[in-house]
Amino acid sequence: MVGGGVVGWAVAWRCAARGLSVTVRDPAPGSGASTVAAGMLAPVAEAYFGETALTGLLVASAARWPAFAAELTTASGVDLGYRTEGTLVVGLTGDDLAEAGRLWAYQRELGLPITPLRPSALRDREPALAPRVRGGAFAPGDHQVDPRRLLVALRTAAERAGAVLVAAPVGRVDELAASAVVVAAGCGTAALTGLPVRPVKGQILRLRAPGGGPPGFRHVVRGYADGEPVYVVPRADGEVVVGATVEERTDPAVTAGAVLRLLRAAVDLLPELAEYDLVETAVGFRPGTPDNAPVIGALPDRPGVLVAAGHHRHGIVLTPVTADLVADLVATGTPDAMLAPFTPGRFGPVTRAATGG
Ligand code: GLY
Repeated sequence: MVGGGVVGWAVAWRCAARGLSVTVRDPAPGSGASTVAAGMLAPVAEAYFGETALTGLLVASAARWPAFAAELTTASGVDLGYRTEGTLVVGLTGDDLAEAGRLWAYQRELGLPITPLRPSALRDREPALAPRVRGGAFAPGDHQVDPRRLLVALRTAAERAGAVLVAAPVGRVDELAASAVVVAAGCGTAALTGLPVRPVKGQILRLRAPGGGPPGFRHVVRGYADGEPVYVVPRADGEVVVGATVEERTDPAVTAGAVLRLLRAAVDLLPELAEYDLVETAVGFRPGTPDNAPVIGALPDRPGVLVAAGHHRHGIVLTPVTADLVADLVATGTPDAMLAPFTPGRFGPVTRAATGG
């Protein structure tokens, strides 16, 4: 296994639990996108126009989350911060509501569970929303988990099942002596495989509710505020995540403008956030692909080199299905039909120089 993020550790756990001998190689496990991510499990609110295959995989993985969370909690003894209150998608102004409404109309056409709410019903459900918020909809199946707790849990469960960490870099996958190598190296996957995985910068904030208590709202809130897309994720321990920019850039700077825009949008939707402590600003790099969908399967002409990468905005929600299907593939050599749209081969041949083959 190359990569010690949530996908890498989840695949390692599932493989080790099948009795396979598993080594995880990563010089700095958990230092990538996994610990920056907000942890939204949003198969509905993140179902975008033209991404139907990806939406199907999001829905399939989200359906596995309740059992996955229960099994992982038992296997690791770690509280994942898994919450099922659901997500509110809102618009601050009439224009914002029109934009949000166009998307949820599409999501409803797909048969996904999202229900428009009257303003009074919206406020009954989440009284902390600003009176200015014009309207919204409720996605009851869009849950959340704390990715930092998830990472600890997955590593604990994998190591308890026998997986071993080697904290060393990998230059070329062919230097690894293993019957199967799974590359789950996020943005580092491009250099190791030649696949077109690119970094997509995201700036994200963490706030903390004053007084040590929980936030004054329960739902994940996402939507638009004066044209600015934003999401706000409340945790039971008082943390609130506010995200995120989506930038085709590779510099690690946190910019004043991004912080200003994110905070303004978040406070416009949930005014109490103005009183919260700003405790962290961070940058992560989503591993994006040309079609925004993950790459899961064997490299063309290299059946011993598998890839589980390119999860872009969806790494946390896609962790269970990725881990299950990759472990099946390692054990049986046969890809599940669900993986057909996500093969590495869909991008054409990869350069063998990258893998050393
Ligand atoms: N899935 C949320 C993000 O990528 O910002």
